[in-house]
Amino acid sequence: MMVGLKLEIEQGVMEGHKCFAAIYDFLMARAEKTFMRAIRSEVVGKARGRTLEIGCGTGASFPYYPDPSAVTATEPDPFMLQRARRRARLMGIPLTIIRARAELLPFPDSSFDTVISVFVFCSVQDVRRSLAEVRRVLRSHGELRFYEHVRYDHRWGALAQDAVTPLWQWLGGGCHPNRDTPRLLEEAGFRIVRLEVFKLDPPVPPLLFIRPQVLGVARPV
Ligand SMILES: C[S@@+](CC[C@H](N)C(=O)[O-])C[C@H]1O[C@@H](n2cnc3c(N)ncnc32)[C@H](O)[C@@H]1O
Repeated sequence: MMVGLKLEIEQGVMEGHKCFAAIYDFLMARAEKTFMRAIRSEVVGKARGRTLEIGCGTGASFPYYPDPSAVTATEPDPFMLQRARRRARLMGIPLTIIRARAELLPFPDSSFDTVISVFVFCSVQDVRRSLAEVRRVLRSHGELRFYEHVRYDHRWGALAQDAVTPLWQWLGGGCHPNRDTPRLLEEAGFRIVRLEVFKLDPPVPPLLFIRPQVLGVARPV
């Protein structure tokens, strides 16, 4: 890991991606009006108890929380954070929003009943460290509810994702299309109790790189 990046993680900050933050809602607009409604209702709408959202972006999940006053949303990118705060303010959603990276969560052990992640484990710099932090802050009976695009389950798709990752990372605010998040979750000490796989059509670029997508629930072992 580069020294500057290590320092950023230690300090919990991030320089940010101004252009990506500015176009993110536009890029997602069609999906948000169609299938992401059902996805966010299922992943976010079933959050229970004290809830942490990691990498909340512009706050697209905020309207779906059943009890926003029990939610702490975190986001390290200052440009995303600004938009998330504005959305919460304009919509009158009373959740707490703080600047933090998933690799260094500023909360005591066992402080949340639910952790929410939507398209975040593809973007974090150190996915193993982020998963260890999520596990640390989750209570033993708690659950991680997630929706992520993940590594292809067949060779050619995975190879295409590996090939495009450097460019995609640069274009997509640090996103890695080739992460095998379910496997990493199990390695980090989670038991996946639900996993639904979605393959968006058509299977051509750029959709090819962000499929399959998985909706899941994982619990600490
Ligand atoms: C593709 S966006 C998803 C945003 C939001 N979760 C949503 O559902 O629309 C990925 C988000 O992860 C954030 N992110 C990047 N690195 C992160 C890190 N190390 N810890 C937490 N979030 C991070 C980005 O700033 C961005 O907001």
